[in-house]
Amino acid sequence: MSIEIKNNQFHLRTKTSSYIFCVLSDRYLVHLYWGEKFENDVDLKYNADEYYRWRCGTYPFYDENSTNLYTTYDLRHEFSVVGGGDFRIPTFDAKYKNGSTVSEFEFESYKVYDGKPKLCSLPATYDEGGDAETLEVVLCDKLTGLKATLVYSVFEEYDVITRSIRYDNCGNDSILLKSCQSASVDFIGTDYKLLNLQGEWCNERSVEWQKVGHSIINIDSKTGMSSHARNPFLVLADENTDEYSGNAYGMALVYSGSFSMTAEGTSFGYTRIAAGINPYDFEWDLDKGESFQTPEVVMAFSNTGLNDMSRRYHKIFRERLCRGKFRDMPRPMLVNNWEATGADFTEDKIVDIAKAAAKVGFEMVVLDDGWFGKRDNDLTSLGDWYVHKTKLPKGLASLVNRVNEMGLKFGLWFEPEMISADSDLYRAHPDWCIHCDGRRRTEGRHQLMLDLSRDEVCDYIIKVVSDILESANIEYVKWDCNRNITETQNNSQKHKFMLGTYKVMEALVTKFPDVLFESCASGGGRFDAGMLYYMPQTWTSDCTEAVTRMHIQYGTSFAYPVSSMAAHVGKMAVGFDKFNGPMDTSAKVAMGANFGFEMDLSELSETETEQVKGYVEQYKLVRETVQFGELYRLESPFETPYASWMMVKDNQAVLFAHKTSTRNTVEKRQLKLKGLDKNKQYRCNDKIYDGETLMKLGFVIPQDSKGHMYVFETI
Ligand code: GLA
Repeated sequence: MSIEIKNNQFHLRTKTSSYIFCVLSDRYLVHLYWGEKFENDVDLKYNADEYYRWRCGTYPFYDENSTNLYTTYDLRHEFSVVGGGDFRIPTFDAKYKNGSTVSEFEFESYKVYDGKPKLCSLPATYDEGGDAETLEVVLCDKLTGLKATLVYSVFEEYDVITRSIRYDNCGNDSILLKSCQSASVDFIGTDYKLLNLQGEWCNERSVEWQKVGHSIINIDSKTGMSSHARNPFLVLADENTDEYSGNAYGMALVYSGSFSMTAEGTSFGYTRIAAGINPYDFEWDLDKGESFQTPEVVMAFSNTGLNDMSRRYHKIFRERLCRGKFRDMPRPMLVNNWEATGADFTEDKIVDIAKAAAKVGFEMVVLDDGWFGKRDNDLTSLGDWYVHKTKLPKGLASLVNRVNEMGLKFGLWFEPEMISADSDLYRAHPDWCIHCDGRRRTEGRHQLMLDLSRDEVCDYIIKVVSDILESANIEYVKWDCNRNITETQNNSQKHKFMLGTYKVMEALVTKFPDVLFESCASGGGRFDAGMLYYMPQTWTSDCTEAVTRMHIQYGTSFAYPVSSMAAHVGKMAVGFDKFNGPMDTSAKVAMGANFGFEMDLSELSETETEQVKGYVEQYKLVRETVQFGELYRLESPFETPYASWMMVKDNQAVLFAHKTSTRNTVEKRQLKLKGLDKNKQYRCNDKIYDGETLMKLGFVIPQDSKGHMYVFETI
């Protein structure tokens, strides 16, 4: 039993953590604790009584009838609203029929059950074979009849708790929802640091720490996408927390649209974290009898540092968020033609690339942008998902068959959420794009976005994408999304677009269970937990340059598993003339995730071909460990001139040890490895090492500037 309820106190226990809150004065839900696990029965309500005393006359009383005088501003709320004197960022904000925004929710009931409910129309972690237990706590605003059901699922073995909130309008009037955060947690103290994965196109998810103190820090996206700029993930940590020691509290939002995550440190010495849909351009009319479901937040705590917290996310995202037959399957090594040919190719050119790919042992060829409509550049044809007659005169099936005959699988690029102004689809349905009447239709990369909040638009896209997938043996889809949402007709359209996109994705991944889907958004502009529910991997970034990639993959690993990161050696980044330097490093970096190439392998010399063949052979030997092993970060490129990490699975460990500059140094370095068996011996490059020695004394890395991969096998 991971959920225990006694004397109105709710105690949620995972393998190593406890999360505790209570009902105060029979009405209010008050947060008491999140941290290291309490093994014994504890009653923390004394703490509420002693801690939450009235301190300052300028703040209103929370409960004047109680023997204790609480002030709302001085309480740690499990659910906070506008009104009553709590002036911090609220979990919930709405406008009622009389124009007021004041809410008063009171505890009504709770229930506990095995398993975990599906979230209506939204991606979420799931229970399999009884790994989760769920607590629902119902609060009610008696005046308006609005109910808020706080849903907590405890994945005890995964060491993770998920939260979301459902609103049911049981009153008589419609209510305008203004802000519906998925969860908020009030921590004691303000001496925290906060991690934000920030970036831009070709430089996504850089690790950035800032001190919370008494400020408000908002990490958000307003673009309709989770975005390149900030990721829907944060960590709150004690000042001294590092990779392998200290408290780290993670929050990951399972949502791919505009989001907001806020940390607010207050003068009373608390820090509130709230996470959910961005209220900035959100509102929702909730009619009588209707419900609204917030996205889910996945919360992971570790008192042994950031790396353990990350490994909790990796495991739950890999095993209880990703779905389908590819979830646990090694991902194919592929060659994508984008950096080789762009949109300028013929059937024979792709066949040439495939021949060269087959020769060195790749498993799949992916045809990227440019195979449909009249798409010879990015000015045209999105939405016209039928084959480009000049480039592929014999149709897709002819090309796919030729590729399959070489023993390779075939994959195809789509950008289903988009529409080009120059397309047959737009000419037929100019109103199908997201637009605001009377305003300019801003184009991004010369394209508009389909209004997937409309059922007929979703149905059309499901049909045309299905027709293509049924027309040939297509075993992989790269699902791209290359612009943001600009002019919306109203403030619910962005969230409705997201729900429509999820609906289309759900329909297609369900209809084509044998197709491996990979998401992409101008590289890693929508690398989030929401997408992983539909597509178990993501194109990590359009940047394939080795050193930037080290940073990107390292930063991404704070929240997301290696099996979700696609990483290719790209022609753009290495050029052939630098084959022995950057190419080798690029390959070693790409082998640290789901490995592939983006170049015309048919142009390589024999020596170069042999070299690529060597990478493919090496990767096959380590693939299972890299994609599904336990990840240990060793040296941060954000803090040192190095980027090192390792994966461990069963009897193998794979170490990646890179330098982030080509500057010569005389310094050798000794890397202390992690996650090995201290009682076992390991063979690496024909030498034998003790596991304990490798972890306590370390492994010597040469002083050159190349990237390195070392494989350790137990003997
Ligand atoms: C985006 C993707 C690239 C490629 C192009 C094609 O930028 O991130 O990998 O697919 O689109 O237009």
